[in-house]
Amino acid sequence: MRASLEPGLSRITLRHGDITSDDSADAIVNAANRSLLGGGGVDGAIHRAAGPTLLAECRLLGGCDTGDAKITGAGRLPVRHVIHTVGPVWRGGGDGEPELLASCYVRSVEVGDAAGCAVLAFPAVSCGVYGYPLDAAAAVSLEALAAALSVHVGVREARFWLYSDPAYAAFDRALTQLRETR
Ligand code: AR6
Repeated sequence: MRASLEPGLSRITLRHGDITSDDSADAIVNAANRSLLGGGGVDGAIHRAAGPTLLAECRLLGGCDTGDAKITGAGRLPVRHVIHTVGPVWRGGGDGEPELLASCYVRSVEVGDAAGCAVLAFPAVSCGVYGYPLDAAAAVSLEALAAALSVHVGVREARFWLYSDPAYAAFDRALTQLRETR
């Protein structure tokens, strides 16, 4: 099972810092809420950097279900698209959170590939306001992303932008573990 993850795992990279500084991705993924009308955290940073045209486009989308993803232009950001995905709120893990979080990555890759994006930049969806524990989120997110990339070969690279030291460390540990156990 793990062997099938290899083609995807090798195309995942980790970066430390602000996702809005990425000027070489084709699309930046936003950890949004179901309204798609902005918020705090990475959502706030993306909307601030993109400017009001992003919000105007989002208003036309009619929201987004948890686990789904929708694509827009990127306003003033130096990338072509923003992919808005809605992670689950952590409620202890027994409420479908892992499946919904995995779905965010799968749907984001599907939507990005369909729009011809070769490089996608991801934040740690659900790991801030939504309270998903970092180690658990890292394992689920990386495995789902690797599986999606293995199928969507048009996406050449998926890079995680980890904002905090603990987030970077958790994703680094989980990526090393997945690579060792495949
Ligand atoms: N670049 C990269 N990562 C960031 C940045 C940034 N500029 N800013 C924060 N992070 P969160 P969620 C990290 O709360 O948990 C919003 O209000 C952050 O440290 O942005 O999915 C939405 O509108 C954390 O590791 O998203 C929703 O209402 C990760 O990004 C809600 O928050 C995700 O944290 C979504 O909550």
